Amino acid sequence: MSWEPDDNLDLFGLDESDKHDPAQNDVSTGAMVSNRDNHAASSVDTTRTPPFTPCPQDEATTLGQEVEPDSMDTPPAKLREPFRPAFASYLTHTRYGVPGLYFHGQRQPRGDGDPEPYDVWICGPLECSAATHDERNDNHGLLLRFKSPYGGWREWAMPLHLLKGSGEEMRGELLNMGLRINPDAYKLLNKYLAQCLPDDRVIAATRVGWHQLEGGRVFVMPRRTLGSVELSRRITFQSEYGTHDDYAHAGTLASWREHIGSLCSDNPLLILSVSTALAGPLLDMTHRKSAGIHLVGDSSNGKTTALEVAASIWGGPEFIRTWRATGNGLEGVAAALSDTCLILDEIGEADGREIGATIYALGNGTGKARASRNGTARRPHRWRIAILSSGERTLAAHMSEAGQRPKAGQAVRLLDIPAKRKYGAFDCLHHLSDGRAFADHLKSEVTHHHGHLGPAFIEHLVKERRDLAAMVSKFTDLPKFATDHPLQGRAAKALVLIGLAGELATEYGLTGWREGEALDAAEIALKGWRTFQGGVQTEHEQILVSVRAFIERHGDSRFSDVDGDPRQTHTVHNRAGYWRDQPEGRVYLLTNEALKEALRGFDSRRGLDALDSAGWIAEREGGKRSVRVQINGKRSRLYAVRPDEGGEYES
Ligand SMILES: Nc1ncnc2c1ncn2[C@@H]1O[C@H](COP(=O)(O)OP(=O)(O)OP(=O)(O)O)[C@@H](O)[C@H]1O
Ligand SMILES: [Mg+2]
Repeated sequence: MSWEPDDNLDLFGLDESDKHDPAQNDVSTGAMVSNRDNHAASSVDTTRTPPFTPCPQDEATTLGQEVEPDSMDTPPAKLREPFRPAFASYLTHTRYGVPGLYFHGQRQPRGDGDPEPYDVWICGPLECSAATHDERNDNHGLLLRFKSPYGGWREWAMPLHLLKGSGEEMRGELLNMGLRINPDAYKLLNKYLAQCLPDDRVIAATRVGWHQLEGGRVFVMPRRTLGSVELSRRITFQSEYGTHDDYAHAGTLASWREHIGSLCSDNPLLILSVSTALAGPLLDMTHRKSAGIHLVGDSSNGKTTALEVAASIWGGPEFIRTWRATGNGLEGVAAALSDTCLILDEIGEADGREIGATIYALGNGTGKARASRNGTARRPHRWRIAILSSGERTLAAHMSEAGQRPKAGQAVRLLDIPAKRKYGAFDCLHHLSDGRAFADHLKSEVTHHHGHLGPAFIEHLVKERRDLAAMVSKFTDLPKFATDHPLQGRAAKALVLIGLAGELATEYGLTGWREGEALDAAEIALKGWRTFQGGVQTEHEQILVSVRAFIERHGDSRFSDVDGDPRQTHTVHNRAGYWRDQPEGRVYLLTNEALKEALRGFDSRRGLDALDSAGWIAEREGGKRSVRVQINGKRSRLYAVRPDEGGEYES
């Protein structure tokens, strides 16, 4: 097939002479085409088969015709002379050459001769089955179906913006998925796609997870949509990365239950981990943004194994990310896993200075507003996600080591759960001899059985009519989940949600666990979390603890008597302030800088609010929470703080 330069193409005009009844030509040896007309839709296997509507054929151009063999044994048939200029797609060898999308052109020779036909192979068989755009009429795209020489049909909702410039990114993705493309004919491919106007329209989902359509809700995954058949056809996942699919599968749901689910039974930490992975799809249904736990335990006790078992709900062991990979790439990852679970191993590998912000970002469900290359604002990523993490140290310990003060808000978004059970992270080894054998057995099993339970769970949730938010509230009110602190209440609610996810999966017959096992695991987790935390400190408590600690540490060295004779007192280095003894106790007069230091990162106003409401501001002047004090003839503004003697907030 020789490629002719593009400048002679007339893509949208058609000479009258071409509209005559096309002659029947012989096909080249070995070509197999059907006797059917050229509009046959492919019935070859594809992972998703929406109703195929061929691209509309306007008078000038015949788009994406397809010729399909009735059978590979059919003898070569005759091929009709195509309209020119036009695109046509052939599924088999023809006299034009290998299967694929062709451009049939013609050029006017010099002089008065008849137009000369020519044919260009553009790429493997390819068709546009629908036009796509999101609910806001943005993110336009084309639903492409194409075939690689090895393997069946593939489908990709391609964002149209990938056609900008020379369309290189788009070709990269198509090549990645196995489509062969003529490097000399890429402009024709761009033109074919640019002018494609399929009748069918499909909603482009740019995020994995629940989507509300007219008529019901569906759950969009990269390669399939879960929900009623009719609704699922109306929406498709659209992404710049056609090959990207985190949700791999192996084995069957029954084999998962037999080989993995059964071993989770009597192992609360495994049940908890699996339930956390299942909690993702419940977040939206219970009006929550996130739920997260962090398994803390010694090295080689089975933490990563627990994560791998949880990952087997959605995909293979590669479904697990490491904390190291967070940071910049995090938002894209979270959006790609929305309504499912982000599993992060090895908190020790994360940058302790970033970890706090990461947890807030994950929990809040919105990424940073992004600037596109031309400077205009792009909509930030959004997600709702369950988080399962592991490490040898608690979140707080890891942050503190990096000089960061963990906040209560972070601690409740990612609950530290001790992974210290009878045999490492496990309680029951079933038929295995020891913890090591049990962990290694599970590690091997998850590579053979994964990726089924999550989608099966969602298929049931689509039909779930009960008020799950009310169920979470009901369980949280049970005495075993009762708490006496709002922050603890939040932790209990997150764990109840996780427990409920496990219970529902059991009720749907998916896990093989005993009824109540998942909620029991959540209760054990809550108890573990409490012992770990000693109760979560509120910001208010943290401020008081921090200021008291500052005064205790520096009270003697960096403060001196405000009324003392400067010639007689020792030299104070790095002064934080003064003190003044009063009948109620010593008052510390802190400079502005010292207060900031004592607050360890809390905003000054927030800190003063806490001190004020605890009654620790001993003196004030007018409406201010500071006083002016005459020192060595100079007036300074200082904060008069008297920590309460009761020691309610010990550091
Ligand atoms: N409960 C256990 N008892 C004894 N050995 C175990 C146990 N759990 C895991 N191991 C051993 O440790 C290996 C690593 O397991 P896994 O990755 O689950 O550990 P981990 O807790 O994540 O360790 P690390 O903190 O080093 O990442 C396993 O292959 C197994 O040999
Ligand atoms: Mg590990």
